[in-house]
Formats: sequence, structure tokens, C-alpha cells
Amino acid sequence: MSVSTPEPDPPEPARGVDAVVLVGGKGTRLRPLTLSAPKPMLPTAGVPFLTHLLSRIAAAGINHVVLGTSYKAEVFQEYFGDGSRLGLDLEYVVEDEPLDTGGAIRNVADRLREPDAMVFNGDILSGVDLPAVLATHRANAADVTLHLVRVDDPRRFGCVPTDADGRVTAFLEKTDNPPTDQVNAGCYVFRREAVESIPAGRPVSVERETFPGLLASGARLQGHVDSSYWLDLGTPAAFVRGSADLVRGIAPSAALPGDPGEALVLEGARVREGAELAGGCTIGAGCQVGAGARVRGSVLFDGAVVGAGAVVEDSVIGAHALVGDGAVVRGAVVGDKAVVGAGCELLDGVRLWPGVHLPDGAIRFSSDV
Ligand code: GTP
Repeated sequence: MSVSTPEPDPPEPARGVDAVVLVGGKGTRLRPLTLSAPKPMLPTAGVPFLTHLLSRIAAAGINHVVLGTSYKAEVFQEYFGDGSRLGLDLEYVVEDEPLDTGGAIRNVADRLREPDAMVFNGDILSGVDLPAVLATHRANAADVTLHLVRVDDPRRFGCVPTDADGRVTAFLEKTDNPPTDQVNAGCYVFRREAVESIPAGRPVSVERETFPGLLASGARLQGHVDSSYWLDLGTPAAFVRGSADLVRGIAPSAALPGDPGEALVLEGARVREGAELAGGCTIGAGCQVGAGARVRGSVLFDGAVVGAGAVVEDSVIGAHALVGDGAVVRGAVVGDKAVVGAGCELLDGVRLWPGVHLPDGAIRFSSDV
């Protein structure tokens, strides 16, 4: 007799709300990885990053999702199609010229079906309780509600103070003396009229233009503050950390292909005896890791090869790239099909461009190659 695991109960449907995900950015800070794929499509803990976010949206009971695309727009539809695999009804709106974040939100206005739209930056990994953000929005009859997250070092961000009722009082630029540790977490609920108030057909920054403009006009902007997991995956270091946090189960996701642990080894990958995998690393499909190699907290895209005795830490190794025997790659990005010769050292922020071949024994740090 076979015993089948019961299907989890479907989420309570979230009523009166669409989702909008902004995925049109060029992802310049993540080059050269984003030369071949847009940032939200980069393999992150075994699936394109966007899968984690879309799964969270589905789990919150939101069914209709509009993706605002521009850079490499076609890649999204090729992979996600109509969204039915994730239980979503997915639509795509392409910008011929990038409209920036606010312009991209305005550009999808005619696809919205419900009174509210939950808007997401497509590169944020977060554990925020989405129904709770929506509840804050409605309880306060807000025009826009912003998820605000408390961070350890708010000097690196513009910050968003709120009053005793949680109402946003200002949008402040980066400063050495921020009056609050609350920062914009890149997830908002917009009342439909607030979307329609954004000027159409030109680039608009939601942070620099839309929010300050709404505040000045007397609109109600509400903050929803929490301390849940939150990471902007915009830089190589953050991308590596986010991926490792997903693999280790520190960042919540229902889309992780496997159980949380120290390493995620995908189909067809070969890891030789004596190799050590740790720190939430991902070994992509068809990868090879040589005997005695050490891979820690890193992402190996599909088909990458790490030679015997090599060390790869906190790094991204692009698809079909090769790290030679005994090489050390630490805090670096190796582009697709690039070759790091045997015994090389790549350290601290080095980015090796796709297809570049670094001869055996070379040492590089803090520059593009
Ligand atoms: P960098 O070039 O490295 O700053 O990355 P980025 O282009 O992704 O910009 P940023 O991280 O500021 O973008 C935040 C979110 O908005 C990301 O999910 C982007 O994909 C998205 N985004 C940025 N600009 C546009 C745009 O012009 N159109 C659309 N549709 N989305 C955008």
C-alpha cells in the first residue's frame, strides 16, 4: 500500500489586490552575471531568483501578477509562461525604453483589476508577512503603504521616519546621522488611484519623485515596520549571501528544491571524494568539484568545474566556467565560460569577464579582468 503525503491547504485568497513585480532593471552592479540574464532570473539556490518571490506572492493568496519588464524582457515569459505552474495568473508588460521604478508602476495601470496593487522590487529577498502589510494598508485607509525594515547601519540607505501612528513623515537622503533605522524595503501597497496619479509615458523614480510628491500633496503614506529577514540582492556579495541564506533555510522560501542544509547539489553534479561543501553553497546541474576542493558559501552555475584542491569562497562561478586545480577564488565573480588557471588567486571583488582565460599562477585583486 502506498501512502501519499496530503497536499498543503491552498492559501486563503487575498481579496481586492493584484501584484506588480518590477523586473526591468539592467542590474549593472551585478555585471558580468547580468550580461547574459536579467538579475531576477539569475539562478539562486537552484531556481531563478524570481521563483522565490513569486512563490511567496502565491502563498499569500495573490493570484494575478503583472511583471513590468524591459531589459531582456522575453526571458521572463519563456521561463514562467502564464504562471500556472506556480498557481498564478501572470501577465507581462514590456517597456520599450526603461521607465524607472515609478514609470514602470504607472505603465501597468491598465492591467490592474483590483482596488489595491502590491508592488515588489524584483531583487529583494524578504520574509515580511505580506497579508500583514495589506492589513496595515487597509486599517489605515492609506493611499500607499510602504514596507519599512529596520537595518543595523541606516547610513547606507535613505531613511523613512514615521510618527506615532506609523504615518510616514519624510523621505530622507543618505546621511551620517540618520534620525531612524527604518529604510524603504522595496515592497509597497498602492491604492489604484495612487498608481494613476503617476505621470505616464516618461521615466519616474518612485523613491525620488512619486513618494515625496504624494507626501507633499497630503496623501496618506503609511509605514509597515518590521524586522523580518531582508536583503537587497543587488551586488555580488549580497547575491552570494542571499543564495546561501536560502540554501541554509535562514531566508524563508517554499521554492527551495530540496531540504535546507550546508549545500544544495543539483542534478547531474559530481562531487569527488574529499571535497568539502559548506556555508550554504549551490553546486549547479552538471557541475564537477574535484577531490580535496573546498567550496563554501558560493554559487556554482550549471556546468561549472572546480579543480582538485581549489578553494572557492563567497564567490559566483558562472556557467561552464573553470577554476583550475589548486586555485583560490575568494569574494570574486567568474563570468560564464571564463577560465581561472591552476594555482591562480582571485580575491576581494575581482570580476573575471565571460570567456576570459587567466593563465596559471596569476594573482588578481580588486579590479575587473
Ligand atoms: P543596478 O543597475 O545594479 O542598480 O540594478 P537595477 O537596474 O536592478 O536597479 P535597482 O536595483 O535600483 O532596481 C530596483 C528594482 O526595480 C529591480 O527589481 C529592477 O529590476 C527594477 N527596475 C529598475 N529600473 C526599472 C525600469 O526602468 N523598469 C522596470 N520595469 N523595472 C525597473
